[in-house]
Amino acid sequence: MELIVIAAVGCGNRVIGRDGGLPWNIPDEYQQFLEHIRGHTVIMGRISWEIFGEDLTSARHIVLTRNPRKVRNAITVPSFEQALERAEAIGSRRTFVAGGASVYEEALSEADALYLSYVKGEYSGDTFFPDFDPADWSVEWTREHPAFEFVAYGRRAVA
Ligand SMILES: NC(=O)c1ccc[n+]([C@@H]2O[C@H](COP(=O)([O-])OP(=O)(O)OC[C@H]3O[C@@H](n4cnc5c(N)ncnc54)[C@H](OP(=O)(O)O)[C@@H]3O)[C@@H](O)[C@H]2O)c1
Repeated sequence: MELIVIAAVGCGNRVIGRDGGLPWNIPDEYQQFLEHIRGHTVIMGRISWEIFGEDLTSARHIVLTRNPRKVRNAITVPSFEQALERAEAIGSRRTFVAGGASVYEEALSEADALYLSYVKGEYSGDTFFPDFDPADWSVEWTREHPAFEFVAYGRRAVA
């Protein structure tokens, strides 16, 4: 299974969220996110699920919560480790981790790839993508948009 961390981050400060939503309104970026996850498995935190869950085009949704319960259209699990186990068990070929902050933090050490949209301009917020070491990642491909630059990174093989 390929594990991919996907996020839109402020290009200067790695902001990802503000007041329970996104700091920006960039429909092209959001559409691109929905295209990437289409048909695959997505893992996300309970708050992000409450914000974005209705929109998702993924085939399977695994929601992290410390109070697992019945949720329409999703499996809930109490740890990131169990989220990975469930994704493997249901035969996911690609699994995307789609936030928020602490879920990205846990996923970074496990991920095979990072799909980051660097949003242009200055945005403030209250939720941030974790710092990561660029030395661990190589740029595989990029795509330039008026409002953001998309960069796909692959994990660099350990020498
Ligand atoms: N720019 C982007 O690409 C992007 C992507 C996603 C989200 N966001 C933004 O990020 C913000 C939301 O993110 P957030 O960091 O505040 O919240 P979040 O990660 O979406 O959700 C946090 C919740 O997830 C559960 N959780 C997290 N880690 C867990 C673990 N290891 N085990 C069990 N449960 C766990 C807990 O739920 P319980 O409280 O139920 O126990 C926790 O309260 C919003 O502003 C949103 O717009 C931005």
